[in-house]
Amino acid sequence: METALVLEGVEHAYLGRTVVSGVDMRIGAGEITALVGPSGCGKSTVAQIASGLIEPSRGRVSRLYRRHGMVFQEPRLLAWATAHDNIAYPLRLAATARRDRSRRVAAAAARVSLEPADLLKYPVELSGGMRQRAAIARALVVEPDFIYFDEPFTALDAALKRRMQDLVIMAAGAARFAALFITHDLMEAARIAHRVLVMDTHGRGIAGERRVPGEPGARSDEALYRLTDSWHRDDPLFRHIFDVDERRIP
Ligand SMILES: Nc1ncnc2c1ncn2[C@@H]1O[C@H](COP(=O)(O)OP(=O)(O)OP(=O)(O)O)[C@@H](O)[C@H]1O
Ligand SMILES: [Mg+2]
Repeated sequence: METALVLEGVEHAYLGRTVVSGVDMRIGAGEITALVGPSGCGKSTVAQIASGLIEPSRGRVSRLYRRHGMVFQEPRLLAWATAHDNIAYPLRLAATARRDRSRRVAAAAARVSLEPADLLKYPVELSGGMRQRAAIARALVVEPDFIYFDEPFTALDAALKRRMQDLVIMAAGAARFAALFITHDLMEAARIAHRVLVMDTHGRGIAGERRVPGEPGARSDEALYRLTDSWHRDDPLFRHIFDVDERRIP
């Protein structure tokens, strides 16, 4: 498998306090990799370093993909622009011709099941799930071969979350992008990803990884429940994720 992203010995400090260190990871082209770990361990920091939003204080990042998109927990839409114009925003920044823009917005919107009528609405007129779909369409519109997802569905209810996961699985299958998908939810990680990386509680690198058998979208619910249940109960790699009380972290 060709390589899309490599992190080697990545470290980062905020105001002199080291929050992540010794982070090594390699993500292959077209590979969906989930990153899980307790709150505050440095997952978002790793995604920001990997995507180039912040510079690591040490270590090396190699981006071998062509273009990336990003999806965050909040949709981060412009309130004064329609869904269409929000999705088109990265194309405007790239000075794409207006005619091409509309065609590509329509294609990206269709991938996340947004109707043409929804595209004329402003964010305040959209439901939470529709806003998040617009945010995903905005990531897809640049035709990325890599997408960073930072807990995109954490704020959504269980049924909607599942539908959104299916949209991502389908879009990934069709557009063949690789992804770093950050989540707290092991079931979500197991549904969406080829491989799950577990971050150390204190940001000291990746504690380990587990490959998810089968392909995203082709795994039965029963198999996924069995797998995540065994991770929860018997797998020492996942033990630290849920027993950290973030209020005790200084
Ligand atoms: N801009 C910043 N300035 C100073 N400290 C920061 C900043 N961003 C994050 N931190 C600190 O870095 C550490 C890692 O934060 P980060 O947001 O990467 O964790 P996380 O694993 O994404 O957590 P969560 O699961 O809650 O989103 C935390 O201790 C946090 O307080
Ligand atoms: Mg985070």
